Amino acid sequence: MIVLGSTSEVAQAFVEKALQEGEKFEKIYLFTSNKETTERFARHIDVKFLQQSEVIELDLMKDIDYNQFENINSNLLFCATGYLGEGTEEGLYDNKNTERIIDINYSKLVPVINYFAQKFENRRSGTIIGLSSVAGERGRQSNFIYGSAKAAFTAYLSGLRNYLFDKKVHVLTIKPGFMATKMTEGLPLNPKLTASPKQAADCIFKAYKKQKNVAYVLPIWGIIMMIIRNIPEFIFKKLKL
Ligand SMILES: NC(=O)c1ccc[n+]([C@@H]2O[C@H](COP(=O)([O-])OP(=O)(O)OC[C@H]3O[C@@H](n4cnc5c(N)ncnc54)[C@H](OP(=O)(O)O)[C@@H]3O)[C@@H](O)[C@H]2O)c1
Repeated sequence: MIVLGSTSEVAQAFVEKALQEGEKFEKIYLFTSNKETTERFARHIDVKFLQQSEVIELDLMKDIDYNQFENINSNLLFCATGYLGEGTEEGLYDNKNTERIIDINYSKLVPVINYFAQKFENRRSGTIIGLSSVAGERGRQSNFIYGSAKAAFTAYLSGLRNYLFDKKVHVLTIKPGFMATKMTEGLPLNPKLTASPKQAADCIFKAYKKQKNVAYVLPIWGIIMMIIRNIPEFIFKKLKL
């Protein structure tokens, strides 16, 4: 298994869920921009599940040497990589913040997934799970740079699923609503609309086993987004969302 964004609590909960459910992985490749924290998780799964793993440095804001990934093969890729950035007015007009959001959520991430997608295509098997966001379904004033990068990522995953379908590779798009993780720490989230990392991982694992194409983490978000998508623009533009 290949994990992108390994310090994400959702990624770690998914790895644990898969191992608890008896999934077998020769090795888990934990890609991370934070080696120290990820080494602790690697030791944890070694002790708890006798699971072999390897921690690999991947900072999307730095140059990537793809040669070091040449011998990495797997049947499952789980991508939890994402960056919320600053959605405030200050953040919106700060080009560094804007570029970082677009780079980490989309432009620097897609070539990495493509690299492994080609390997999956050559083997004619495997599943790619990508965590996008409900934020990508309609631009809102509170976080539309992040939302637009996630919209692009959702479109990428949709196209990749279509392209890989007859190559026997499945692509699952996850659209989380709120999840209680380090990304949302300190934000005033409605607890009824917020999934814990474990809840999110259980839902993602279920969608993976059912070979779903697209899944919301909490089903309520499917209804919320249907309403949001259908609000006429002349009303929507006046809302403070
Ligand atoms: N939390 C929410 O409410 C929510 C809602 C909708 C969608 N999502 C999406 O769900 C996914 C998981 O998010 P999360 O809530 O678990 O947040 P998170 O803990 O911040 O996870 C995102 C991960 O992205 C990786 N990342 C960040 N900057 C990077 C960089 N420069 N290079 C490489 N990797 C980088 C980090 O992993 P490493 O430290 O291992 O590099 C980080 O753990 C993300 O795609 C997020 O956008 C979250």
